[in-house]
Amino acid sequence: MTEATEVGSTSGPGRTAGSDVAFLTDFAALSAFGVTDRGGVHRETATDADAAQRAWFGRWLADRGFAVAYDRVGNQFGLLERTPGAPWVLVGSHLDSQPFAGRFDGAYGVLAAAHAADRLARRRGTGANLAVVNWLNEEGSRFEPSMMGSAVFAGGLDREAALDTRDGAGVRLGDRLAELGQLGDDDVLTLDDVAGYAEIHIEQGRELEDAGRTVGLVEATWAARKYDLTVTGEQSHTGSTVMADRRDALLGASELVVLARELTERLSTADSPLHTSVSRLTVAPNSPVTVAREVRMNLDLRSPDEDLLERADTLLHERIPAISEHARVEVGVSGSHAWGVRPFPAAGVALARRCAEDLGLSHRTMLTIAGHDSVNLNAHVPTIMLFVPSEQGISHNERESTADDDVCAGVDLLTAVLDRLAAGDPVR
Ligand code: GLV
Ligand code: MN
Ligand code: MN
Repeated sequence: MTEATEVGSTSGPGRTAGSDVAFLTDFAALSAFGVTDRGGVHRETATDADAAQRAWFGRWLADRGFAVAYDRVGNQFGLLERTPGAPWVLVGSHLDSQPFAGRFDGAYGVLAAAHAADRLARRRGTGANLAVVNWLNEEGSRFEPSMMGSAVFAGGLDREAALDTRDGAGVRLGDRLAELGQLGDDDVLTLDDVAGYAEIHIEQGRELEDAGRTVGLVEATWAARKYDLTVTGEQSHTGSTVMADRRDALLGASELVVLARELTERLSTADSPLHTSVSRLTVAPNSPVTVAREVRMNLDLRSPDEDLLERADTLLHERIPAISEHARVEVGVSGSHAWGVRPFPAAGVALARRCAEDLGLSHRTMLTIAGHDSVNLNAHVPTIMLFVPSEQGISHNERESTADDDVCAGVDLLTAVLDRLAAGDPVR
């Protein structure tokens, strides 16, 4: 037995002595796509690195007998039809990354899904058909919004609108996917074909690590509201323009950045936290010696308490006129993306808990703060969301890491959960 397989239980369905090593080896191969100097990945949607990785993953699936196909928005599926006509259980996550981000966010869940389905296939069981999915553009960094492919699949976003989005250089997503040969011409699967969905992901926080637990059973998601803000001033000379005459868009934007933090200082409590950030500014003309005429920026508000999020929204809108007046700018606000506090089905959490206990894995029920493709699926099909720990809670960072033992334990748990879902255990 190898060192890796001595960790945790070896009784998981379909697990073999070498399966941990096989997973870690494949994960190392996957992490080479878009690798950065500091060991992270830079693999935004429909970049060369993302496309090459998808091609590699497609070959991995095909080599193991999966039928591989892209749907009409570029979601990538690997289908294992075990019982013709039976419903499909879907399992997956996303392979795209934020810029200069970590190896685990999304990619871990996709590979774990593929290994879990492959382990079950090797047992030659019957039951539901299994579909592994790599959702298009979960991150929403190059093309907005985030969780795009799963939103289209779940009917929450128009497919043509998604394909029509453009990156900062004006590249249209649909054109780019077609150029890469990663846009299909049918749906592959529809919601009606799907009996259940499971996803495993790194936690991206440090609750599991702080509690010393190996897996998280996600009960609900925090609510989120994302805004696009446009601050309009007037371009002028940074040296010669009289201070009182300036209409500095970057000053207005800076005050909004500070306001975002002030909202948490005013409203957040231990029981009802509020997380806020501005994370992107696009400044025009962004030139030395020229006062900015326009800043486009985002603003991201999150809380497990929808009332508090509403109060934050109200306070934000109340404070904007004073910032406009002080910086002599106009501020336009539009909502770009939002979701509410949504529980995952309790029966699914109970199913996952039984699986964790059978495997001897310490566990904890918890909320997800980050959005996931599972949030889109959960609105329509019985959905189970699982976490493994993130070292120090670091994520969207090249230092993102999860211990090998936890990585392998998570694959075992996902395999057991998928096995139960495919056998038709009730999730709600
Ligand atoms: C993911 O898309 C998030 O916004 O957390
Ligand atoms: Mn993710
Ligand atoms: Mn992410």
